[in-house]
Amino acid sequence: MQKRRLGRIGPEVPALGLGCMGMSISYGVPDDAESIATIHRAIELGCNLFVTSDAYGSGINESLVAQAIRGRRDQVLVATKFGNVGLGGGVPEGLSGGHPDYVKLACEASLQRLGTDCIDFYGLHRVDPKVPIEDTFGAMQRLVEQGKARHLVLSEAGANTIRRAHAVHPVTAVETEYSLWSRDVEREILPACRELGIGFFAYAPLGRGFLTATIKSVDALGAKDRRREHPRFLPENINKNNKLIRCAELIASAHNATPAQVALAWLLARGPDIVPIPGTKRRGYLEQNLAATGLQLTARELAQLEQVFAPDVTAGTRYPEKQLKGLGI
Ligand SMILES: NC(=O)c1ccc[n+]([C@@H]2O[C@H](COP(=O)([O-])OP(=O)(O)OC[C@H]3O[C@@H](n4cnc5c(N)ncnc54)[C@H](OP(=O)(O)O)[C@@H]3O)[C@@H](O)[C@H]2O)c1
Repeated sequence: MQKRRLGRIGPEVPALGLGCMGMSISYGVPDDAESIATIHRAIELGCNLFVTSDAYGSGINESLVAQAIRGRRDQVLVATKFGNVGLGGGVPEGLSGGHPDYVKLACEASLQRLGTDCIDFYGLHRVDPKVPIEDTFGAMQRLVEQGKARHLVLSEAGANTIRRAHAVHPVTAVETEYSLWSRDVEREILPACRELGIGFFAYAPLGRGFLTATIKSVDALGAKDRRREHPRFLPENINKNNKLIRCAELIASAHNATPAQVALAWLLARGPDIVPIPGTKRRGYLEQNLAATGLQLTARELAQLEQVFAPDVTAGTRYPEKQLKGLGI
């Protein structure tokens, strides 16, 4: 498995990590046995970076990851997050998601669920508008000093917040949505990360499944699938977005590859600091996705993708309106 260095100071990680969220929530029906087999297969293939959060099923996903890595802790890197209180988990009365006292409580709970004494990458899932980032990051820095966290991560933060946090303690990576159909980060966030030497975990690199070209209608999704609430999957938008995916399908067929592999190869070609974390709960998809590290797109194909998936061309916002408000603070 190819490796990438996370920013200027960060450690080496596999070029692709494994997003574990969909194993427990949001996408389709969970299948714990297959999810655990997928994590084991990932370790065998050298994809040993597992990304979770205490918000994914209020700790259920962390517990699933813990079950899968039991006895193999020294072979893997675990990334988890806290502070996405809208999605899952409870914050005690008087505290909020970024409060320094809550940071300590959340970390202790994650350590316990994960069955480890140190989290490799500990991240703030959503910036708390009620707490100065210096206070939240200061509390996270103390976790590093105490040996409870190795590296710090910020998810969905604006460029100014990234700078302020980095001044408190080095941010090893920013974790934010980045894919062919979500290129907003190219404007300010990625340039700020590059200037500061911060690595980048590109989440939802497959456009929550859309860029695999297997979801061409909302009817392909189960009744309780959370993507039904995502504007880009609404019938009026998905029909427009289907016109974009054709380009990835054509390029894929020229390489005997899949559109998912094209989407990942494009992201990997955006820079050596980008580490996509595609999510899947199936060994077959995992193996296909990891094979994208060997797919070399030509300069012409990269340019075609750039042009077709121009920033802002996607129909629909990347989150429902209510959730958009908590991003990019
Ligand atoms: N920081 C944040 O706020 C945040 C937000 C969202 C996600 N994330 C992280 O990023 C990770 C990845 O994002 P994501 O899971 O939302 O979206 P994604 O990786 O873009 O897409 C996942 C979807 O694509 C499907 N899929 C994966 N590989 C496929 C393939 N080769 N062929 C066909 N379908 C395939 C999966 O199906 P199956 O489920 O059936 O395998 C799943 O439905 C998450 O697991 C999570 O760890 C972070």
